[in-house]
Amino acid sequence: MHSAFETESIEAGIPIVFVTKATWDTIRADLSGPAQQFARANDFSGKAGQCLTLPSTEGTIAKVLFGLDDAASPRQDRFRVGQLPGLLPPGTYRFANAPHDTRLAALAFALGSYRFSRYRASDAPEVRLVPPTELDIAAISRMAEAATLARDLINTPANDMGPEDLERAARELATRFGARFTSIVGDDLLKQNFPLIHAVGMASTRAPRLIDFSWGDPSHPKVTLVGKGVCFDTGGVDLKPAGGMLIMKKDMGGAANVLALALMIMDARLKVRLRVLIPAVENSVAGNAFRPLDIFPSRKGPTVEIGNTDAEGRLVLADALALADEETPDLLIDLGTLTGAARVALGPDLPPFYTDDDALAAEVARCAHEENDPLWRMPLWGPYDAWLDSKVANINNAPANGFAGSITCALFLQRFVESATSWLHVDIYGWTPSSKPARPEGGECQAARALYKLLSQRYG
Ligand code: BES
Ligand code: MN
Ligand code: ZN
Repeated sequence: MHSAFETESIEAGIPIVFVTKATWDTIRADLSGPAQQFARANDFSGKAGQCLTLPSTEGTIAKVLFGLDDAASPRQDRFRVGQLPGLLPPGTYRFANAPHDTRLAALAFALGSYRFSRYRASDAPEVRLVPPTELDIAAISRMAEAATLARDLINTPANDMGPEDLERAARELATRFGARFTSIVGDDLLKQNFPLIHAVGMASTRAPRLIDFSWGDPSHPKVTLVGKGVCFDTGGVDLKPAGGMLIMKKDMGGAANVLALALMIMDARLKVRLRVLIPAVENSVAGNAFRPLDIFPSRKGPTVEIGNTDAEGRLVLADALALADEETPDLLIDLGTLTGAARVALGPDLPPFYTDDDALAAEVARCAHEENDPLWRMPLWGPYDAWLDSKVANINNAPANGFAGSITCALFLQRFVESATSWLHVDIYGWTPSSKPARPEGGECQAARALYKLLSQRYG
């Protein structure tokens, strides 16, 4: 992978001086007379995101001034430094003074260097950082590589990222770390009792499948990750309107982030027995597509009535969670782009998570904050479970009232988890709607870094 980091000696870099509105007066006083004049002429005041290159007398870049947010501001963007790769002229840089959080700043720099260049060469200048020597660069690079993997998988359009392509990506990762890999494809899903994965995926010419790989010492704690791998979500027969369908190549964002998390876990050799399950399907429209009010059995047993074919993510996850649950994992985590309702509740950058394990919830919240990979707990509100009742089957996949859609989705999934010691469900968005520092528009790595932090603290 291309790295944003340069291993040259630290003196080689052009110094970047971090400024806030509060420190600007002091920092300016230390500049040469002409540099002070140059900053004044350019109206530099240390506002967040302001960037000014100061020339030397020879006309080279002597140093860079960059404005950071006031740490006390509620609007502070802790990834502000991630703007720099998009602002700086080509070259190699270093931090001249400490930003608010040096580790997050270096990570932001790496995350902000991402370009999706599969279909068009990037014309972005080569901007590199000699990272501060006190940092664990391997750990930061691991996170940057994982984010790149998740983003590339999500950004790749559905014509090149079908169920088979997603399987290939998972297999490549598994092979790299010597994991044991299997996949159940097409009608074999029926034979091996995954009726819901089959029902959702059967209308596509690209066969549905259940990807399954395991890694690590079988005697270590069992951590199982399940990722929603809907390679494109048309909504099925209850078709999505064009605006809502437009970005549905991202509907395998749960799978992409589970693979990103698995990469970090295996690369860091955490002391876990890892299992990754990805139901990979395309929710298509065709004569043999599943229909509203169809009823299917599920792997776990309960019959499922289809209230809406667009609530397909919970269906494929239900069968995968049921399989995961059969071996009583110590920690079962699923990630998926499951509901528009989660965006209505919390917006694109703050995915809700659900668990009954209060200690786990507290750890998730803390790690999410530490990694600036925000997550927010929402309740598995028992009384709403009644909304999932069907008049003719054991459960309906889409409550008729549109209330609390992310919560009722979580409650649906909960019906299929019984034995796992702890279960955590995250309803991610997997997408940055418009570029922000360190987060370019498009596919996004969400929840993976926070969860990696949690797992590395528990099992490192
Ligand atoms: N993939 C969508 C959820 C989604 C939509 C995520 C838009 C991000 C942006 C999911 O399969 C879906 O369509 N969910 C429905 C569920 C409903 C029919 C109960 C939704 O949220 O509208
Ligand atoms: Mn859908
Ligand atoms: Zn979907």
